[in-house]
Amino acid sequence: MKLLIIVYLFTSLIFLSDLHSSVYKGQKEYMKKCKSCHGNGAKIAKLKTMEEWKVVFSNNGKILKDLHRNDNKALKYINSERFKKKSKHMLDFFVKYALDSGNVPACSD
Ligand code: HEC
Repeated sequence: MKLLIIVYLFTSLIFLSDLHSSVYKGQKEYMKKCKSCHGNGAKIAKLKTMEEWKVVFSNNGKILKDLHRNDNKALKYINSERFKKKSKHMLDFFVKYALDSGNVPACSD
């Protein structure tokens, strides 16, 4: 029984730190690729709820593409392989600080 609890605590720790690093990666990617146009990432995260972000990022960012249909620079990135790889992390970042997340980012985020 003790062992079970230890295993449980251990796996949830791994899970949490994994999620944390994904949020961090997503934030870094946001700063590189979106911040120049949108500014503070936590502020944009607050534009939508967790569910809404998931929808915006679903289908390889179909809605995100649509939001940027008049903006070639943003579109080029959203259509790239790099976005495909990083969008999961970016979504984790937005979900973490979404309108209904209850999370407030640490000062400079
Ligand atoms: C080259 C500039 C540019 C880049 C880069 C860019 N965007 Fe945008 N974005 C815009 C413009 C312009 C709009 C449409 C006008 C608006 O709603 O502000 C927009 C709209 C949006 C909206 C809708 C805003 C709302 O009020 O609902 C979201 C969400 C968004 N962008 C997220 C992102 C994300 C995430 C990235 C990075 C992957 C990104 N943008 C990269 C220029 C950019």
